[in-house]
Amino acid sequence: MLNEKIHEALTAQVNAELWSAYLYLSMSIDLEMKGLKGFSHWYYVQSQEEFDHANILINYLISRDSKIRMDQILSVPNSWSSPIEILKESLAQEQKVSAKIQELATLASRMEDFATQNCIQWFVNEQVEEEQSLRDLINLFNMTAEFKCGLLNMDSDLAKRRYKKPSIIG
Ligand code: FEO
Repeated sequence: MLNEKIHEALTAQVNAELWSAYLYLSMSIDLEMKGLKGFSHWYYVQSQEEFDHANILINYLISRDSKIRMDQILSVPNSWSSPIEILKESLAQEQKVSAKIQELATLASRMEDFATQNCIQWFVNEQVEEEQSLRDLINLFNMTAEFKCGLLNMDSDLAKRRYKKPSIIG
């Protein structure tokens, strides 16, 4: 059985991952409405990945015979002024998630819950990737913004992102 503090922290993280999925879906819709189909597709895949992250934690809670509580998901913004605003807000969101994951890893270590530590390690690595890919996109956007076709080229590149189910959820 999981320690109550760890159980609460994992439940809060399920909610945070679902909120991220909801946020990225909203960004995907806004980008589609702005005619940026490649950006929209990239964010749709991002939203699916966040849903997977929530599922990884849910599966872990089930495997530890712990109660699942699906809390309310708060509303998200619906429109942004530009793709760069969306990219910057996404990076800020991922940095917040990384801090939460760090807290979870610290708690699991303090409680000597090695199974939870092991589960959370996957998220520690994932967050490094998540932050890096957004920083790369922001840099690419800034570099190509001065060229006329820069945004369109980037849009068509982002349309190529493929959804990959994490092997951890089988
Ligand atoms: Fe699940 Fe992008 O953090």
